[in-house]
Order: sequence, then structure tokens, then C-alpha cells
Amino acid sequence: MTKPVKRVAVTGAAGQIGYSLLFRIANGDMLGKDQPVILQLLDITAALPAVRGVVMELEDCAFPLLQGVVVTDDPKAAFKDADYAMLVGARPRSKGMERKDLLEANGAIFTVQGRALDEAASRDVRVLVVGNPANTNAYIAMKSAPGLPKKNFTAMLRLDHNRALSQISSRTGKPVDQIEKLAVWGNHSPTMYPDYRFATIGGQSVKAMINDEAWNRDTFIPTVGKRGGAIIEARGLSSAASAANAAIDHMRDWALGTSGKWVTMGIPSDGSYGIPEDVMYGFPVTCANGEYTMVKGLEIDEFSRSRMDLTLKELFEERDGVAHLLG
Ligand code: NAI
Repeated sequence: MTKPVKRVAVTGAAGQIGYSLLFRIANGDMLGKDQPVILQLLDITAALPAVRGVVMELEDCAFPLLQGVVVTDDPKAAFKDADYAMLVGARPRSKGMERKDLLEANGAIFTVQGRALDEAASRDVRVLVVGNPANTNAYIAMKSAPGLPKKNFTAMLRLDHNRALSQISSRTGKPVDQIEKLAVWGNHSPTMYPDYRFATIGGQSVKAMINDEAWNRDTFIPTVGKRGGAIIEARGLSSAASAANAAIDHMRDWALGTSGKWVTMGIPSDGSYGIPEDVMYGFPVTCANGEYTMVKGLEIDEFSRSRMDLTLKELFEERDGVAHLLG
């Protein structure tokens, strides 16, 4: 084991997603089977006993790559020298809570965590925000960390991407890993726009293969958009193992590359596709050498424009709702 150890901070470590995520990071699924890691786990004070229970289980797995675990309720300690930060912990919507209150509660968490990252993390830290509203929380963290490169802040759209892949696979009868060039645009919310206009399977157009625009508009887009709700309805709890899996996919691809394959990441816009600079928006990207690159120059037809603007409008509303927290 020759590689220097990487420090991976995970917030919300006592939660459902944490319970699926931590074991896979420690097992090498995220950064590679030759990459030793130290886990730096953050949760609120009341949840620390539960985090310690999870740590006992991590110990009992005897993962060879796991070189140490830090448990804390102090964001600065959790993010100290972190190479990767996975911001999963967030305030869930409780009964009677308005959307505005949810934004406010999470805004408070993510300004503090953004500042702590700025102060304590590695200057190269790669940040993934999973906790909802993920795009806006990532935007807040980025704006609260002016000393870190903006491009190092991302939001998770990968679960939506994977959900779309799976729907296309079952419609076409082709294996998921053969589907290339899928994009999911916008906010991680039911307004997102999963878009297979450019997708191919074995070099053939998925759009031509499916050839059913009504299915695209009336079944595919709403099924992917409302999948999270369908899982809550069925399970009584929000998606957790699939969310953890998507977080692993996102970080693994960012760190180790996609070999030219498109994936979706929520990233700060550079102004492309009519999305104003800094808006944290789902775009198709490829990854190589630890960096992502947006796929540019795709044609946006009228229907796509209206979908992309709709999800942008929602992001503007969220941004306006937290503007006072950002000064
Ligand atoms: P959970 O409620 O089981 O766990 C959340 C954990 O975060 C709890 O242990 C809680 O104590 C902790 N937490 C709360 N405030 C914190 C703070 N200020 N600092 C550190 N930890 C804090 O929730 P679950 O199921 O693990 O989901 C976590 C988040 O991920 C939720 O916001 C959920 O909506 C979101 N999510 C996002 C998805 C995406 O695709 N972007 C998909 C699925 C879930």
C-alpha cells in the first residue's frame, strides 16, 4: 500500500445514507482498492452515540484500507485537511414546515459548513453536496468558501442520472452500461429534465430506437422526476442505498475519470446553455485527471429550452430564499 492516505469527511454520518455510504468508502469502492482512507465523521451532538455505533461496525469489518476514523460534532474538525467532503447531513422537512423554513434551516447549516471547509480543508478538497435541497445547499457552501475554487463544489444529480439510465434500459431491453451520452439538466427536484436526445446504445440513437415522444414526455420524464417520491411512498423512508451508491459513483468518477463517458454532475455554471454563471445546475460532464469538463455545444430545442428554464426558475427562487444568509 504505497499511496498516501486520503481524508474523506462525511456529514450526517448517523443517518440512513451514511449507513450505506461509509462501508463502501472504507471498502475502496469510491477511491480505488489501493487507496487508504481516513474517515472524518460529522453529525450533531445528539447523534454522536449512534455514529460511534457505526464506527464499531466499521471496525468489525476489518477493512484493510481504513486507516482511521474521526468522530466529531465540530465541522472544522471534520473538514481538517479533508481531500473529499461529502455533505449528506441536512435538516429534513418536519411536519408543518414550509419550504421557506426548510431553505432557511439548511442555509444556516451550509453557510457554517462552507466556512469551515474554507478554513480547514485541503485547498484541493472535492465537495459533493447530497443533503437537500442539494443544488442550493451546494451553492450556499460554495459562496461561503471564497478561498476555495468554485469548481470544487458540486451537487448530486447522479441518482437522477442512474434512475434515467435504468428506465431507458428497461424500455429498450439493453444493458445499462451500454447507454452513452445521457444528460440530466437542472435542479435535483421533480423539475429536473432527463434528456436522452443525444444518447446512444452501440452507436445507435436511443431516441430513434424508442421513437415515442409521448412516452418521453408523459412517462419517462415524470417517472424519473418523481422517483424519489415513489420510493418514500413505498418504503416510508427516502431512498438511501441508491443515494449512497450514486454518491460513490459521483466521487469515483470525479477522482478516477470516466474514460470519455458522460455523467451528470451539479456544477457551478460557467454561463453555458443560457444558465447564468455560478448557478449550481445539473450538466453532462466527462471526468479525467481529477477534474470534470462540461459537455458543450449540444443543441437545445424548444421543448428542452422550456424544461431547462423551468428548473432554472426553481433554482432562482431557492437562491432568492437564501440570499439574505449570504450577505
Ligand atoms: P437521515 O435523516 O437519515 O440522516 C441525516 C443525518 O444528518 C442525521 O444523522 C442528522 O443528525 C444529520 N444532521 C442533521 N443536521 C446536521 C448538521 N448540521 N451537521 C451534521 N449532520 C447533521 O437522512 P438521509 O436519508 O441520510 O438523507 C440525508 C439527506 O440526503 C437528506 O437531506 C435527503 O433529502 C438527501 N437526499 C438527497 C438525494 C440526492 O439525490 N441529492 C437522494 C436522497 C436523499
